[in-house]
Amino acid sequence: MNLISTTNGEKFDARDGETLLDAATRGGVALGYSCRTGRCSSCKGLVRSGSTIAVHDELGLTAAERDAGWILTCVRHASSNVELDIESLGDIQLFPAKTTPCRIHSLERLSADVIKVVLRLPPTSDFCFHPGQYIDVIGADGLRRSYSVANAPNAAKQIELHIREVAGGAMSRYWFEQAKVNDLLRFNGPLGTFFLRDTAGKDLVFLATGTGMAPVKAMLEGLRNSADDANKPRSVSVYWGGRSPQDFYWDPASLAPGFVYVPVLSRAEPDWPGARGHVQDALLASTPDLTQTVVYACGSDAMIHSAREQLIANGLPDKCFHSDAFVCSASN
Ligand SMILES: Cc1cc2nc3c(=O)[nH]c(=O)nc-3n(C[C@H](O)[C@H](O)[C@H](O)COP(=O)(O)OP(=O)(O)OC[C@H]3O[C@@H](n4cnc5c(N)ncnc54)[C@H](O)[C@@H]3O)c2cc1C
Ligand code: FES
Repeated sequence: MNLISTTNGEKFDARDGETLLDAATRGGVALGYSCRTGRCSSCKGLVRSGSTIAVHDELGLTAAERDAGWILTCVRHASSNVELDIESLGDIQLFPAKTTPCRIHSLERLSADVIKVVLRLPPTSDFCFHPGQYIDVIGADGLRRSYSVANAPNAAKQIELHIREVAGGAMSRYWFEQAKVNDLLRFNGPLGTFFLRDTAGKDLVFLATGTGMAPVKAMLEGLRNSADDANKPRSVSVYWGGRSPQDFYWDPASLAPGFVYVPVLSRAEPDWPGARGHVQDALLASTPDLTQTVVYACGSDAMIHSAREQLIANGLPDKCFHSDAFVCSASN
């Protein structure tokens, strides 16, 4: 057993063979994370003292970060007591992840390569989540894939997923060729820490590409349903990137008036009247005051990396950029 301490003065024990992230969760310390497979870097921290061992490749770190002592807590074990420079999420309550059976309630094509799946939970289920979190759906033969929940919690105990078809993908084959209403599945969750915090009085900006709109829709619904005026942002803008107009399979403006919605095409035809290029370019073109902005970005790893870099270079405080990268699953 090794003792881990964090920047905020929190302490927790790490057992042999346990990742630092799992140890923190078991010890009641909430650390930011997303993929849990060493690919997205949401869980990174700097080792101030002590030694750790990587149990998977840390693909989410650059060589320079590795040399400077950064680690990914989701794939590192402690081999001594460790002082970690990492900020916890403070007193935010993370609902414990658990495995729940569910049935497919409905299946609906939203576009040529996106399907909406609604899962029905047992009436006795007490599944709770923060809008923006994801679940791991467990299919036949234990095949497991992560999908963001696309709705805020609702009385009907249903979970909406927006799933993009990946060519040759094992789980895509199930969703797009075999799945039927009433199929029995299981899921594990809620997972991840991509949910709204510290938005009071700020300009809240969502950046999404493709089905990265799913958790954004959940958070927008959460904002619409919230009676908590003290935490309300002063403005809400949604930038959604796609290749063709058909990629915009849902209209964020339909949810509530007052949200700014900017669809952005990277391969626009000459007659496209809207924004062109990448979502972060469209945001920067609106000359925002990034010192008062908090950004939630979801979708491709490439968008998240370049958005983070460009926005921070233009004045966005590092800790005001939150992301969920749809990296591919490490194992089948
Ligand atoms: C936190 C998180 C949340 C996610 N939420 C969603 C969601 O809401 N909706 C959604 O559609 N997807 C989401 N994903 C991605 C999803 O979990 C799967 O990885 C993806 O759907 C591919 O699964 P598959 O079994 O069809 O393909 P696989 O069998 O896993 O992969 C088939 C091939 O495609 C490649 N590949 C896999 N994924 C990608 C990709 N994203 N881009 C390019 N190549 C790829 C693989 O390397 C492999 O060669 C999320 C991922 C993470 C980590
Ligand atoms: S790299 Fe650790 S959560 Fe993604």
